[in-house]
Amino acid sequence: MLRLLASLLTVLALACSQAETPAADTTAEPAANAMAEVPTESEPEPVDAAREALRIRASAIFGGMPDEVSNEANPVTEEKVSLGRMLYYEKRLSKNHDIACNSCHQLDAFGVDGEATSPGHRGQRGDRNSPTVYNAALHITQFWDGRAPDVEAQAKGPVLNPIEMAMRDEASVVAVLNSIPDYPPLFAEAFPDDAEPLTYDNMARAIGAFERRLTTPSRFDAFLEGQIDALSDDEAAGLETFFAVGCIQCHVGPAIGGGSYQKLGRNLPYPTEDPGRAGVTGDEADRGFFKVPSLRNIEQTGPYFHDGSIASLDEAVRLMGRHQLGIELTDPQQTEILAFLASLTGQVDEAYIQQPQLPERGLDTPAPDPR
Ligand code: HEC
Ligand code: HEC
Repeated sequence: MLRLLASLLTVLALACSQAETPAADTTAEPAANAMAEVPTESEPEPVDAAREALRIRASAIFGGMPDEVSNEANPVTEEKVSLGRMLYYEKRLSKNHDIACNSCHQLDAFGVDGEATSPGHRGQRGDRNSPTVYNAALHITQFWDGRAPDVEAQAKGPVLNPIEMAMRDEASVVAVLNSIPDYPPLFAEAFPDDAEPLTYDNMARAIGAFERRLTTPSRFDAFLEGQIDALSDDEAAGLETFFAVGCIQCHVGPAIGGGSYQKLGRNLPYPTEDPGRAGVTGDEADRGFFKVPSLRNIEQTGPYFHDGSIASLDEAVRLMGRHQLGIELTDPQQTEILAFLASLTGQVDEAYIQQPQLPERGLDTPAPDPR
C-alpha cells in the first residue's frame, strides 16, 4: 500500500516536471536522437552496407533452404513419413537383421558414421564413403557418381546390395514386411490409392518421403533471410573468400553443392582409381568426375572425399584449392573459409529423427541369416 502510494507520487511528480519544463524537454529530445543516430550514421554503416551487399549476392547464388524438398511423383504425407521413418531404422530389412539405413547414415550424427568406408553385411566394405542423408534430396541425383535419379530410387539400392543389407531379392523383402503384422496396414494408410500398397517400390517411396524433410537450416540461412549479424566477422570474411577464390564455381545452390558433376583434379590431377561418373555413362570424358558434394554440415561429416581418404576438413579445403582451383590458399584464406564452413552446421530436428517403436515380428518372419 505504501509502495503503491510512493510510485503514484513519483508518477505525479514526473508528470508535473514534464508539464512545467516543456522547453527543457524539447531541447533534450533532439540531443537524445542525435546520440541514437551516431552509430548508424558514422562508422558502422558502411560495414552494414557491405554485409547487406554480401547477403544479397549470397542469396542469389545459394537460394533459400526449404523445410521439405518436394517431388510431384511422390508427394510427402504424414503417413508416408511416419512409415518411412520406421523403415529407415528397420534392421529386419537386412539379411542378418543387424543393419539399417541408420547404421551407415546415423541421424543423430549428422547422417554419417564417421568411417572412411562403412561395414555392411558380414563387415564387408565398399570403396566409397557414406555421404550424409541430410539435405541429400536437394541434389540433382544421388550417389557420388549420380547413378540414382532421386532419393526414392536410391533407397532401393542398399537393401539388395550384397555388401550392404544383402537381401536376396525384392520378393524376399516384401515377404519380410508382409510377415510383420503391423506393416501391411501402415502401407495401406501411406498408399491409400494403390491396389497393392505393400511393394518394394513403395518401401522406397516411404523412405524417400521421410528423407525429403531431412533438411538442416543453419545460421547461414538466417543470414540469407536478412539477419546480417547471424554470421560473425570471420564467417562473413570466409564467405567473401569462398566467392573470391572460386569455390562457388562448383559449390552453389541451397545445398552449397549437389548441383553438378565436376572433375576431381580439374587444375592439378588427383590420383584415384575410381572412374566416378564414367562408370555410369560409359563415356571416357566423364572419368574422374564426381557429383559436387553438399557443404551443409561439412564440419561434422568427415572423413572426406568419395573414398573417405581425407581425414580433416582443413586438408580437404587445402586440396580443393590445389586441385580444383590451381592455387595455394594462404593461411588467412584457409582459416576464413573454415570459419564460414562451420556456419553451415545446421539444426537437426530431434523430434523428427527420434527412432520409433518398431512392430513385433510375426510367426513367419524369417530368422537372422549371418551367412
Ligand atoms: C553399409 C552402409 C550403408 C547402408 C546400410 C546404407 N547406405 Fe546409403 N550409402 C552408403 C554409401 C557407401 C553410399 C555412397 C555410395 C556411392 O556413391 O557409390 C551411400 C549413399 C547414399 C545416399 C546418396 C547421398 C548423396 O549425397 O548422393 C543416400 C540418400 C543414402 N545412401 C540413403 C540410404 C538409405 C535410405 C539406406 C537404407 C535403405 C541406406 N542408404 C543404407 C552406405 C550405406
Ligand atoms: C571445379 C569444381 C570445384 C571447385 C572449384 C571446388 N570444389 Fe570442392 N569439391 C568438388 C568435387 C567434385 C568434390 C568431390 C571430391 C571427391 O569426390 O573426392 C569436392 C569436395 C569438396 C569437399 C569435401 C566434401 C565431402 O563431403 O567429402 C570440401 C570440403 C570442398 N569440396 C570444399 C571446397 C572449397 C572450400 C572450395 C574452394 C576453395 C572448393 N571446394 C572448390 C568440386 C569443386
